[in-house]
This record gives sequence, structure tokens and C-alpha cells, in this order.
Amino acid sequence: MPSVLVTRHVPDGGLDPLLAAGIEPVVRPVDDPLTGAELAQAAAEHDGLVVLLTDRVDADVLVAGARGGRLRVVANVAVGYDNIDVAAARAHGITITNTPGVLTETTADLAFMLILAASRLCSTAEADLRGGRWESWSILGYLGRDVSGATLGIVGHGRIGRAVARRAEGFGMNVLHHARQPTGEPGYVADLDVLLEQSDVVSLHIPLGPETRHLIDADRLRRMKPTAVLVNTARGQVVDEEALAVALEEGRLFAAGLDVYEHEPVVHPRLLAAPRTVLLPHIGSASVETRTLMARMACANVVAVLAGDRPLNPVT
Ligand code: GLV
Repeated sequence: MPSVLVTRHVPDGGLDPLLAAGIEPVVRPVDDPLTGAELAQAAAEHDGLVVLLTDRVDADVLVAGARGGRLRVVANVAVGYDNIDVAAARAHGITITNTPGVLTETTADLAFMLILAASRLCSTAEADLRGGRWESWSILGYLGRDVSGATLGIVGHGRIGRAVARRAEGFGMNVLHHARQPTGEPGYVADLDVLLEQSDVVSLHIPLGPETRHLIDADRLRRMKPTAVLVNTARGQVVDEEALAVALEEGRLFAAGLDVYEHEPVVHPRLLAAPRTVLLPHIGSASVETRTLMARMACANVVAVLAGDRPLNPVT
């Protein structure tokens, strides 16, 4: 029987595909990420790994897996896979899989929540209330920006970006989108800078890669309207956090809603101190239903590869 390690406890029912295939996985009883050395050892000792985005599956881990002669699949319980060296995996014939689709609506909900919460200064207002600083209803207090009638610029036209666009239409927003390839759909803007200049709200829905690292840098932030709101539920490194903090401090950007950070779980101290921010701890897909489906999908991918079948969600 193949040996599979699941690097954390997952929601109840998440392991069902493995159990149904007669595979009793080894589940680590603790919730902290494995060190590189621990992951390398696990890669050498198991046929399949179910990992999280906080597990760094780098070339050393994959080489250890190849040397051990057993490892055939690493299933990421995430749609993003920037934590895995996919090229090294390919070089060693190890299949990588991810979990697209099942988290689309949940993540789009959170992105839209950040659009609303940042536009309406919800965290600032709530912090004042909790801190005993709310003295009276005030006609000038906590004046946010309406999303209704505003232009939303979506960067990326994948599943999640399109799901955010559907929500935005229900809220009466004008929706633009940018993608590297023309989408042929209404609202397409070929030039990212033009989209940034025209949008009242910008929401990022692109994977992290060499070409998207610091895509939103100081120059691009300067292109945005001083009344604009930036929302990031993609990956932290897509935005230059320090430049964002400076733009907020200097009032060159109205507000930001973030779920992801450059060096998670550390948040840039200047961003923590910056005004008009809503900051969440990477919870885009965090619903019971979705996290269960993500774990099941990862386990089903492992079962398929270990049975010699093509997995449902290979990363290529
Ligand atoms: C979460 O960030 C994911 O990539 O699934």
C-alpha cells in the first residue's frame, strides 16, 4: 500500500478520497509548517505528499524525493502553487497538482468583502468603536467611497477575477479587466497602466510568477487615482508593500484591502501602521465547505497519480 503524508490536520471529511482508496495517510498532529529538512525527509519516505501553501517544496525537497525513489506526487491544497518548484518537479518526474475551481466563489466573496470594507473604511470605524473613540454620529465621520457607480478594474481574467466581476455587476459597478492576452470580452483593457488610471477600485487576481512580482510598484501606484482603493487577495509579492504603505501615508491612495502579504505571516510594520487599511490573515478560501473540498480534491489527485491515472488537476 502506498504511503502518503498529509502535512497538517484538514477539515473532517477532507481525507475521504484517500480512505476510500484504502490508503490510511500519515497526518502530522501539529499545525506548524515543516522545515525544509523535515519536508525533504518526508519526500524521501513517502509516495505522495499533501501539502499546504506554507510548505516550501523547493528543489532540495524534490531532489530528496527523487533520491528516495518513491515520491510520485505532491498535491498542494491551494490553487496557487508558487510555494512549489514546478520545474524541478518536472525534471524529476514528480507530478504537482493544485485545487482550482472549488475555492472560486469563496475567494471572490472575500475579495468583494474587502472592496466594500476598504471603500467604506470599516476597519478604521470598528477600531474606533472598540477603542471607545466613537463619541457621536458625525456628518463628516468615516466618509468612505461608494462602490455603486464606481469603476472596478480587475487585474487577471481567471475564474476568481470573473467571479468578482459578476458580484460587481450586482452592485452597479462598471467593470473593466486586464489580462496579458485579449479576452475578447467587454471591458477588456490591454494596457494595465490605463486600467489603473481609469479605475476607482483595483482588485488583483493573478498568480505570482517572475512577471507578476511587484507588478503593482511605486510607479503603478502613482498611476492610480488618489481616491482609488486597492484590493489584493492573490499573492502578497504582487504588490510592493512598502510603496503601498507610503502611498497610503501620503494620501495618494484612498484605501487598501489586503488578504495576502509579501512575507507571511509577517506584515510590513509600515503597512500595519498605514491609515485606511483592512488587513486580513490570508483567509480567502477559509470556509468549512471550501477548505473541505480543497482537501478532498488534493487527496483525489494523489489517489489518481498513485493508481497510475492522470490527475484531475495537474500543474503544468
Ligand atoms: C490560496 O491562497 C490558494 O492559492 O488557494
